[in-house]
Amino acid sequence: MRIGIYGGSFDPIHNGHIALVRDALASGFIDCAIIVPTVKNNFKQYSMTLPAPYRYYMTKAVIDDLKEKGSLDNIYVCDAEFGIKGISYTFMTLEVMTDPDFMTEFLTDQDVKKKKAAGPHEYYWIMGSDTLGTFETWFKPEEILRHATLLAADRPGDGVDVEKAADSVRENLGGKVETFRLNGIDCASSAILKNGDFSEVPEAAREFIKTHELYTERTKLKGVSDAARERFFEAAVWMYPYLGEKRLLHTLNVGYLSAELAVRFGADPDKALIAGALHDCAKELDIDSQREMASDYCGDLFTDKKLLHSPAGAVFARDGFGENDKQILDAICYHTTGRGNISVLEKIIYLADKIEPARNYMDLAPIRKAAETDLDEACRLTALAIKAKTESNGKVIHPSNVDMLRDLGIK
Ligand SMILES: [Fe+2]
Ligand SMILES: [Fe+2]
Repeated sequence: MRIGIYGGSFDPIHNGHIALVRDALASGFIDCAIIVPTVKNNFKQYSMTLPAPYRYYMTKAVIDDLKEKGSLDNIYVCDAEFGIKGISYTFMTLEVMTDPDFMTEFLTDQDVKKKKAAGPHEYYWIMGSDTLGTFETWFKPEEILRHATLLAADRPGDGVDVEKAADSVRENLGGKVETFRLNGIDCASSAILKNGDFSEVPEAAREFIKTHELYTERTKLKGVSDAARERFFEAAVWMYPYLGEKRLLHTLNVGYLSAELAVRFGADPDKALIAGALHDCAKELDIDSQREMASDYCGDLFTDKKLLHSPAGAVFARDGFGENDKQILDAICYHTTGRGNISVLEKIIYLADKIEPARNYMDLAPIRKAAETDLDEACRLTALAIKAKTESNGKVIHPSNVDMLRDLGIK
């Protein structure tokens, strides 16, 4: 098969991206296109607005939705860059994706017929009309050209002489370059974010953005240091193999909300961001590993299967991600139950876990309202609701939770 690969930040994905891929397919040079959201961009580092999992799942939601509506075919989204350590340069992405075993497995997962998925494959790197002109300054361009033909968009009237740029790459680097006519609309993610006009963002992405309350004041992470922001992005990528989509996005949402609450209620936003983001990191590990990690952190304090992931999370964050801050680890450990003499940071993680924007398991409006002004009241309302649910299920309340309830004045 002739496979076109289209990398980018997709921060957010917009109709211009979709049009470009469609036109690339229509050019006849390729049989299918694979969109690869960048994890850590070589030029921009973490200047992306959102950590990679949000951008990957948002892009996937759009492609899945368009496919379901029958308006898109032969376009896939791939997480190939999640496995690359550090900066994901284009030649590295191509190295991963042009591995025959990797591509066969990926295409088979996408329900591509066995015979086609098995290859041999030919690769094209799809690029916008503005990027071909700078290609010779990319990192290891010869390596890129060894793996793929460049497939560059030519948009009439945008002032870029694509044919000239293509000739230059052919002459100077000896690579193969093809161009295709781009009829699609002209829009840019940066302009969308600057103007706050999301009308060119596909419906499924708009829904995704709304559910997780992305591209808001909260996700700007005001009050958070650059180092903590970088670590948050790293944590998101580190957790990707260990958590499914829903839980990973939940735990990242808790990170964002915790940082916001920390600014509001006088805790350390850096610590809140990291503790919140990591709080459920161990939740999908097998139960024996969770049990072992839990007892490592606090003996036999937690034995209930549903609670094990909290102390286990502290150990997994410490040994797996290298987080050594005791306050962060304790906040992870007690996020489900709380405890007596609970710290402000721990209260914040406890609360954010229950009310992050994607949560809808009960009417959370009164708690969310309280969380705007009164941390203790919000925690009290949360604890009361959980206590009622636990008791109605005939379950025993955990001793750490009993201590917190007492401190919050709940009998
Ligand atoms: Fe949890
Ligand atoms: Fe959680």
